[in-house]
Amino acid sequence: MTNYVLKHIFKLEDVINLRDILLKAKTEKDAIPQFNINNLEWAKYILEVCEEEKSPVFLGVSSGAAKYMGGFNVVVGMVNGLKKDLNITVPVMLHLDHATSYELCKSAVDAGFDSIMYDGSKYSYEENIETTNKVKAYLTNNQLLEAEIGKIGGEEDGIASELYFTTLEEAKDFLSKTSIDMLAPALGSVHGIYKGEPNIKLDVMKDIFEETNMPLVLHGGSGIPEETLKKAVENGICKANFNTELQLGWHKDVLEFVENNEEVYDPRKVISSGEQGLKNVAREYIRILGSKGKA
Ligand code: 13P
Repeated sequence: MTNYVLKHIFKLEDVINLRDILLKAKTEKDAIPQFNINNLEWAKYILEVCEEEKSPVFLGVSSGAAKYMGGFNVVVGMVNGLKKDLNITVPVMLHLDHATSYELCKSAVDAGFDSIMYDGSKYSYEENIETTNKVKAYLTNNQLLEAEIGKIGGEEDGIASELYFTTLEEAKDFLSKTSIDMLAPALGSVHGIYKGEPNIKLDVMKDIFEETNMPLVLHGGSGIPEETLKKAVENGICKANFNTELQLGWHKDVLEFVENNEEVYDPRKVISSGEQGLKNVAREYIRILGSKGKA
């Protein structure tokens, strides 16, 4: 079995194109975090912590978050500016998260995103395959493509989804009909806060990975216990996505600050009071995934 391991390979000069990041997978087991961004501060804090920890990172941007920030061009300009002004040297993949249409994928590619997730999970299986291929045809060699099969549950960007599990057969069939770089199977993880203990189908994950050799993506990483996350990485997860826990870490500190500093109205002080809370969460996931020091 080939373990997709994301080590050594992240030295910037080695990354001839982004696909190499996934293709040059070696024998150690670790995964790259995807941290979702919501605004300038989020992007800045995440880039700073990844640089400090020498971890490569996918900066996840949902289409709702991109709209909130002004649009795809704003996001690309902002992230490029931050990378330059903050002297970020670790590989940063600006990734469109859960795009539900070809047009959204096209706009993000045109703006300069490095990596695209087309999420056709709400359409029929055949339509999912068709649009995934259409998006693929639009990408250049330097962009990565992620697709989802089954349905990851929970709520993302205010849109609720019922969980629907991916099977090994479906994964094999989908991969025989598409050409993608990462697959997000729905194996029990959900976006947002878990109701009860997360129950991840680690055995199916392992089977899919062993039979297809495809880098797998874990959505809904927040709230999954450390041991399960580690097991998932061992079983084929190469990218794990986190959003909610970063928000919770930030929110806890901001609440405390506001409660103790009611007279402070400077937005820079209010927003940045959550900086350490957010950074601590990101740092912890970098450690758990084993991506610390890999860039
Ligand atoms: P959480 O918000 O549950 O961490 O999930 C994030 C995610 O999967 C983004 O695609």
